[in-house]
Amino acid sequence: VGGPEPHRPRFHFSPKAHWMNDPNGMVYHKGTYHLFFQYYPDGDTWGPMHWGHATSKDMVSWQEQPIALYPDSLGYIFSGSAVVDVNNTSGFGKNGQTPLVAIFTHHNPKLEKEKSDKFQYQSLAYSLDDGKTWTKYAGNPVLNNPGITDFRDPKVRWYEPQKKWIMTLATKDRITFFSSPDLKSWSKESEFGQDLGAHGGVWECPDLFSVEHNGKPVWVLLVSINPGGPNGGSATQYFTGAFDGKTFKPFSTKTQWMDYGPDNYAGVTFANTGDRVVLMGWMSNWQYAQQVPTSPWRSATTVPRQLGLKEVNKELLLTSSPVKELNALDGQSVQLKNLTVKERYDLTAKTKNKTGLFKLELAAPATADFSIVLANGKGNEVVIGYDKGANHYYIDRSNAGKTAFEKGFGKKHTVPRLSSESNLSLTMLVDVASVELFADGGLSVMSEIFFPESTLDQLVLKSAQGIQITNLKYTPLNVAKGV
Ligand code: FRU
Repeated sequence: VGGPEPHRPRFHFSPKAHWMNDPNGMVYHKGTYHLFFQYYPDGDTWGPMHWGHATSKDMVSWQEQPIALYPDSLGYIFSGSAVVDVNNTSGFGKNGQTPLVAIFTHHNPKLEKEKSDKFQYQSLAYSLDDGKTWTKYAGNPVLNNPGITDFRDPKVRWYEPQKKWIMTLATKDRITFFSSPDLKSWSKESEFGQDLGAHGGVWECPDLFSVEHNGKPVWVLLVSINPGGPNGGSATQYFTGAFDGKTFKPFSTKTQWMDYGPDNYAGVTFANTGDRVVLMGWMSNWQYAQQVPTSPWRSATTVPRQLGLKEVNKELLLTSSPVKELNALDGQSVQLKNLTVKERYDLTAKTKNKTGLFKLELAAPATADFSIVLANGKGNEVVIGYDKGANHYYIDRSNAGKTAFEKGFGKKHTVPRLSSESNLSLTMLVDVASVELFADGGLSVMSEIFFPESTLDQLVLKSAQGIQITNLKYTPLNVAKGV
């Protein structure tokens, strides 16, 4: 942490300058991953939304591209998705060029001011040069607002069994599914969720996808909500269930969270990645996103995560794990076996932890409380731990450096341990301004940002009662290639 941009993430995407929020239109096409994002190029707080654009060959190293979509007479460009229209159902394709089609919400500030409730509607844009430049469809909007104030964030996917497009749309306190043969004309199929899940805030940025489980597809519906997250502010809940092209039927009525940390919001999956389901989220929280002490930009994405399912006590739970492409950052690792931690064990020298950028993998029997402390010489610390009595993991950033910019920021957050195994395992990815914790194979996940006054280059394990760590692997992350 030094130089002019001390909190600039090193292996997460952040725009060179100005405000970013949700990831949008993520799609893999011809060997390139495209990330679009909610972007305000004239300021470092939220403003009239554009779609920024970045591309990557591996989802790890990103190149920022020119802005893809600008506001127009129909409104600002809010969140949405993009698809590869392989069969040219839209007819946008010309001369054999496959169109990429973006489906997004137009948010009309003029209608909003006039107190209309119809100021959000869905529109299209398409690209005939593999995502470089975009043309708005002349027939916009393609889905009018029936009179629902929050009517946004279309996530569109192809539903092969019935050869039609399905749009999953956030409609205030529920999800509405629509279908279309051509992306241009949409019919309502069903509604879901007005009496299920968490409702502490408005529903936003949904996603519906299937994940292979025991050789069968299981449908997963993600719904971001703001506020009302398990640790305050914004967060993403999920439902597992069945989908028949019309209706989503959940397996369970329990509220489940994809990531308990405060800093993974509006995450959705990439289109066109085959069997692999890969998600990236916005690594911030509406509670303080516009106040975080970074300049001249605000916000970053989470690392890409592969989503899966795991059965625990007869329940199907969603798992998240860092994608394998991230291993390209791995430096020479240090491995320690059967390490006894009693009180305090300083790993700083052994691991040569100088940059504070690393991956830590650790396995231990879940027999006692312990913590992993990231610290610096200024007395700042981020504490990641396991509390046996409460059966939860936690991240405490209350003493992590700059916290005063918002009163709720400097807190300790928890995630229940969902695994029933006697051994616990942790994978942590630490960047200069974030930690992403994946416990027990990605069953318990937390993402947190922080802003220390200097590099967190000390690494200490603590356990008052004492714990035997079966295996510990520290891998420095080499970001020389730059992000
Ligand atoms: C989620 C969200 C979306 C909306 C966008 C506006 O963070 O509120 O619902 O489309 O941000 O920037």
